[in-house]
Amino acid sequence: MTQRTAQVMACSNIAIAKYWGKADTELNLPAVPSLSMTLDGLRTVTRVTFDDELRTDEATLDGEPLSGRPLARVTALLDRVRSIAGCSDRARVESNNDFPTASGLASSASGFAALALAASRALKLGLSAGRVSGLARASSASAARSIFGGYAALDAGAREAERVAPASHWELAMLVAVTDPGPKSIGSTSGMQHTAQTSPYYREWIREAPRVFDEVKRALLARELEPLGEAMEHSALLMHASMMGARPAIVYLAPATLSVMSLVKRLRADGLPAYFTMDAGPHVKVLTLPRHADEVALALDEHPGVERVIRCGPGPDAHELKPGAA
Ligand code: DP6
Repeated sequence: MTQRTAQVMACSNIAIAKYWGKADTELNLPAVPSLSMTLDGLRTVTRVTFDDELRTDEATLDGEPLSGRPLARVTALLDRVRSIAGCSDRARVESNNDFPTASGLASSASGFAALALAASRALKLGLSAGRVSGLARASSASAARSIFGGYAALDAGAREAERVAPASHWELAMLVAVTDPGPKSIGSTSGMQHTAQTSPYYREWIREAPRVFDEVKRALLARELEPLGEAMEHSALLMHASMMGARPAIVYLAPATLSVMSLVKRLRADGLPAYFTMDAGPHVKVLTLPRHADEVALALDEHPGVERVIRCGPGPDAHELKPGAA
């Protein structure tokens, strides 16, 4: 019996400049450039064990066995790693999130980043962070960014994400206001395909997104919160507008989402720097400075429709955990 194993931790990330739409569906290449902050408060720990006695890949997420399409996505990533290694052993994957899975908190980002790194470390491939990012990207493009801590970007058409700035560049706070998850709506992969095929606003989104990305990147590198926050809100709303123009419309924003957005605007009018963004789900992520984070978190926590607030700073690189660590 031969077993080769590794355990890694990867953080989720929130796009400040959004990715929505594919330049190549087969290769899973993004149509627009995106830039994200890696979140230290949303973590996935994954162990991958290649075992020559296994007949098929097996995977659990938070202790629940995966089957169907989720398991097929795991196997597809493992196949890419196996083909680099010239190995045919099947693997056992145990993955645990410290936040609600499939709730629009971008669990696929940390999940596929952790899986790509754990599988390549288990087989001792010695791949660069860029190559691991490319493996994660082929499964889920937002996962490419989670290989890098701090702030990372994935260019339009790019195979690998790259670091824009380390976590130490700017200690921003991102407060995740978890709202009622409601019924599960369309996943991001099919949501962006449907938007591309049916929304007349998709073309405008593709045209505008690179410009907003440039604004976000410039403001981040210059550490200017107001233009960063303003461009972040614009990116999110442009993306959601393109989805709402689809037929039938894709609407991820719930009543609580809109209400939290107004709260954030009110806080800003009262002099607190706070800016919102939303992904393919109803939760609102609020960007502020650490010195205002307690006050903003309290206002969010007390707001109707907010179930809890998860406070995040810029997280570390995805990395291997020593045996026994969690
Ligand atoms: C709204 O990375 O989940 O979170 O590449 O099809 O797996 P696939 O899509 P995914 O899309 C994430 C979309 C988003 C914005 C973002 O994270 O940039």
